[in-house]
Amino acid sequence: MKSIDQVRAFWESNPLWTGESKHQAGTLLFYEEHRAVYIGDCFAGNFDIRFLPSPQGQNMSVLDLGCGIGFWVTEFGMRGLNNLYAADLTSQALKLTQKRLDAYGLKAELNLQNAESMSFESDTFNHVNCQGVIHHTPDTETSIAEIARVLKSGGTASISVYYRNLILKLWPYVHWLGWLLTKLGGGLKGRGREEIFLKSDIDEIVRLYDGDSNPIGKSYTREQFEDLLKKHFVIQEIYLHFFPARSLPFKIPKILHRWLDKHLGFMIYATVQKPCVD
Ligand SMILES: C[S@@+](CC[C@H](N)C(=O)[O-])C[C@H]1O[C@@H](n2cnc3c(N)ncnc32)[C@H](O)[C@@H]1O
Repeated sequence: MKSIDQVRAFWESNPLWTGESKHQAGTLLFYEEHRAVYIGDCFAGNFDIRFLPSPQGQNMSVLDLGCGIGFWVTEFGMRGLNNLYAADLTSQALKLTQKRLDAYGLKAELNLQNAESMSFESDTFNHVNCQGVIHHTPDTETSIAEIARVLKSGGTASISVYYRNLILKLWPYVHWLGWLLTKLGGGLKGRGREEIFLKSDIDEIVRLYDGDSNPIGKSYTREQFEDLLKKHFVIQEIYLHFFPARSLPFKIPKILHRWLDKHLGFMIYATVQKPCVD
């Protein structure tokens, strides 16, 4: 198993969206391009309001854990939430998150934190947002326990991991399709991922999605994800998203993209609640 130091070293040198963007990291163009691709491509054009904390009291404290380049905390700020915290394992992520917030005139308190052992007091936040983070860390289970610990009683969290969807399950039998897609110009640009479709090992495909030197990328079935969450939370809702259509060598109709995003998304999202203690 790879170590947290290897994970930190990778993300320090390869913050999200760097290596794929046309623009210099930290510029407004970089953030706008990232937002357009994240919502338009990965979420098929739909910013799902289930990602937002609910009820949305203005003063509710929200932690964006593993904030990356600040997409989520900025979206929350733009929607009027004003007691925002963002944390990441790497200083580069915090730097790029601060620049993103500044670019939109928003504020949040930023913290360097390891999700596996956070320095926040127990029972601190009303909501934790943690998208695409805990499948990159060695001890995913402890990270979930930590999210529960820092939440107030009755607080909520939105957590996502890579989903072992039907496409991944079937891939070992049809991976010759990957050769065809690559020949036609499919794949992902930058971060050493151009030949992602040539891999037959699905764990390797999942790891490679974030870059060829990414040390850890795990995927889960719905049952495995629920088992991890059930130990600490009441599960309110589970849903899918994330179909990066830009990796295909041809354009697909919007309606098909939306269907794939909803039914064959590569990420699984859970809205969970920490049980209330009277
Ligand atoms: C794929 S990016 C996701 C960023 C962001 N959540 C988003 O959805 O745009 C993964 C981020 O998780 C961070 N990360 C990985 N392991 C972590 C850990 N143990 N604690 C905190 N952050 C971590 C990485 O530094 C990186 O910024």
